[in-house]
Amino acid sequence: MPDMLNIALPKGRLGELVYSLFDAAGFPCPSILNPGRRLIFENEEAGVRYFWVKPSDVTVYVERGAADIGVAGRDILLEYEPDVYELSDLGIGKCRMAVAAPADFRDDPRRTLRVATKFRHIAETYYASRGREIDIIHLNGSIEIAPIVGLSDVIVDIVETGSTLRENNLAVYETIFPISARLIANKSSHKFKNEAISRLVREIAGGRT
Ligand code: PRP
Repeated sequence: MPDMLNIALPKGRLGELVYSLFDAAGFPCPSILNPGRRLIFENEEAGVRYFWVKPSDVTVYVERGAADIGVAGRDILLEYEPDVYELSDLGIGKCRMAVAAPADFRDDPRRTLRVATKFRHIAETYYASRGREIDIIHLNGSIEIAPIVGLSDVIVDIVETGSTLRENNLAVYETIFPISARLIANKSSHKFKNEAISRLVREIAGGRT
């Protein structure tokens, strides 16, 4: 019997895409398609147990070994810098981290820049590298509202299609880095369940070529 792999999937659209990739690679768990309110799904035969977790919590499960592997966006990995292995770039969930502002925004270097974001560490690192003094306004969502109502000058947030920005009269001011979904592994699981994890990585890569 192969090792059972515990897999943390990010709840939502990205997680569903990731599950179809795993399913196609030979790690199906059909009960996940009829979830009701359940959050854990197991297919003993395929050797997988999936959990749906909040996208920003995937790294917590994997770092502490409650999940052997998981899928997280590059944004989450750069924000929280978890102590995990990054095994591969799944090439899905593509978007970018950007600074956005009202179209007529001009940065005045004499003033502290007020930056609204969910990604405090990313924003601090980015502006520190440019020697720009900022004041972080930490929000948990709907960041686009901040510059409209005068809470901030700019936002640092994820841009995918750009429609949230457009519909709120904002525009990308600078791109910080591109994002895609990464397969990550717990360090000790990677050692002790190496065969099962390597097989999964191989099958997933095979399914995409
Ligand atoms: C993300 C991000 C933007 C939006 C970008 O929000 O924070 O608001 O998606 O996508 P777009 O460029 O395709 O419009 P999310 O849906 O995760 O919600 P929240 O940040 O408001 O919680």
